[in-house]
Amino acid sequence: MPRIHELSQEERDVYASLKVGSLPKHVAIIMDGNGRWAGRRSLKRFLGHQQGAKSVQLVTETASRIGLQWLTLYAFSLENNLRRPRAEVNFLMRLLKSYLESNVQRMMDNNVRIRYIGRTQELPPEVQEKMRWAEETTARNTGTTLTLALNYGARSEMVDAFRGLAAEMERKRIGPGQISEEDIHRHLYTAHMPDPDLLIRTSGEMRVSNFLLWQIAYAEIFVTERLWPDFRGIHLLEAIADFQRRERRFGGIGESCGEVEEDPERVKIVAG
Ligand code: FPP
Repeated sequence: MPRIHELSQEERDVYASLKVGSLPKHVAIIMDGNGRWAGRRSLKRFLGHQQGAKSVQLVTETASRIGLQWLTLYAFSLENNLRRPRAEVNFLMRLLKSYLESNVQRMMDNNVRIRYIGRTQELPPEVQEKMRWAEETTARNTGTTLTLALNYGARSEMVDAFRGLAAEMERKRIGPGQISEEDIHRHLYTAHMPDPDLLIRTSGEMRVSNFLLWQIAYAEIFVTERLWPDFRGIHLLEAIADFQRRERRFGGIGESCGEVEEDPERVKIVAG
């Protein structure tokens, strides 16, 4: 159930311009720019991550107030894990643990359920333990599902999916000719959720960075120059307003194209 009365006045103004019947079901966000945010203030990078964690909390709460069903955040990629200095990776792990410790109560208050995608079995055991605790504590909440992508990479997700599918095919003696898109979908980490309608990326980079590659096939992409630590609920609402101004075609021709008339000349050229 949406809790619009809990939005700030400025959020309510943007919300009032939205078509409530066609809100996206699933918003995914590539949170980028923590380091730049800190650098512009001559601060250490970890302070950017800390401020980024605050944005996670505030954006999740706005999402829950408008009744968004699925919010998926790219919190830690496989590449982050492999390519960042150990000290930064360790800091991000500690930050995640303390985020969960201090936010589960707020998730309960906001009816938010937390889940994870990624090779989370490779994260430090004490972090996994805290993740499990947060997931179990919030499991019965029925509002927004906040999914954190942790130690996540879309290509490795596909490798894991194909391994799972291959094992199933062997068990059930199914041949390759019978594989469908649905079979692949069933083996992805995201099998239980709809594909994202809207993908937001902060800090201006025009890349998808190995995030949900299969699932974003038809997602609308919204890139903002705003750095993640400055991103708030109102910016989520503005991105949704922009999304609602777009015409989604899913490979069709859309409603604004009018009648399609057959042109005999054109057919001749093509045929000839
Ligand atoms: C990009 O900033 C962001 C990340 C490495 C991951 C996002 C992490 C957080 C928001 C912090 C904590 C999250 C949770 C869930 C507690 P960057 O360091 O790549 O920024 P830069 O490109 O400006 O250097």
